[in-house]
Amino acid sequence: MKKRILTGDRPTGPLHLGHYVGTLANRVRLQDEYEVFLVVADYHALTRDQEKAHIVATRQFSRELVLDYLAVGIDPDKTTMYVQSDVPSVCELHLLFSMLITTPRLDRVPSLKEVMDAEHIEQPTYGLLGYPVLQAADILHVKAHLVPVGKDQESHIEVTRELARRFNFLYGQVFPEPDALIGDVPTLPGTDGKSKMSKSVGNAIFLSDDAKTVEQKVRAMYTDPTRIRADIPAEPEGNPVFAYHDAFNQNKAEVEDLKTRYRTGKVGDVEVKKKLAAALNVFLDPIRERRAYFAARPKLVDEILAAGIAKVRPISQQTVDDAREAMGLGKAQSSVDSQQ
Ligand code: TRP
Repeated sequence: MKKRILTGDRPTGPLHLGHYVGTLANRVRLQDEYEVFLVVADYHALTRDQEKAHIVATRQFSRELVLDYLAVGIDPDKTTMYVQSDVPSVCELHLLFSMLITTPRLDRVPSLKEVMDAEHIEQPTYGLLGYPVLQAADILHVKAHLVPVGKDQESHIEVTRELARRFNFLYGQVFPEPDALIGDVPTLPGTDGKSKMSKSVGNAIFLSDDAKTVEQKVRAMYTDPTRIRADIPAEPEGNPVFAYHDAFNQNKAEVEDLKTRYRTGKVGDVEVKKKLAAALNVFLDPIRERRAYFAARPKLVDEILAAGIAKVRPISQQTVDDAREAMGLGKAQSSVDSQQ
């Protein structure tokens, strides 16, 4: 039997190039080798913002996220995509896991403080504190072995491993201890060159951006500020324009040539950026085409999501049954009934 992957994203906006190098490329690549599950984590999107308008927007973003997945080449025949809140048994597992971890442990998860600072949250809700516990339930309700994620998620996978270990120690072997798989380019800088690419910072190039938008964003990109003329030799290392060339320009000879000329002061930023915009558009064109194909077929997307639910629900229910049995809770009455 193939090993399983589970990973996913919160539906809070379009995916960008940073997501691609951080995790999407891995997800596409591993579709044949593993049985892959992709969760659209809409419950996780409620942990930061509970306003109804935000929740309604989350619904719309869930759809867009699935389009992004399909656009980058996630194949619905190989990968199971589903919306988290459509599979409620994950909440049962979340509850069971919530008994096995202390609040001080969750307080120490680094992303908690980051989110609280970014969103000006003074006291975390119970749900926000439990964010990694719900994520562990996502991963473990399908008993996944591998979790391809961006580097920022590493501490959550550690919580998942601890919960699996703790459960297995107390009640017997039920869960695998999954590994995180971090992408090749762990953090892609934003177009501002300052921090990692992020929707909220406004320094992102989205997978759904059209060619013109990409050209504009690249033209405005941050480069080496000390290089005020094209004939000044400078280092390509640490320059985000070259970081993108390295990650996305498939013409490696062109990248080497640009770097050599950059080091010797024989190329202007305008040319380096023009070639980058062209390379990004070569990379994004097939993604845009697939996106348009699925966007024009909403029924097909509905079917893909319905098939996802149909596949995940019994797996998830079986895991909850396994967990309850191991703990001595026994099977839930309804599931006993349905088997008689
Ligand atoms: N926390 C992840 C993120 O923000 C999204 C997520 C939810 C996830 N459940 C998951 C990722 C399970 C991997 C596995 O990116």
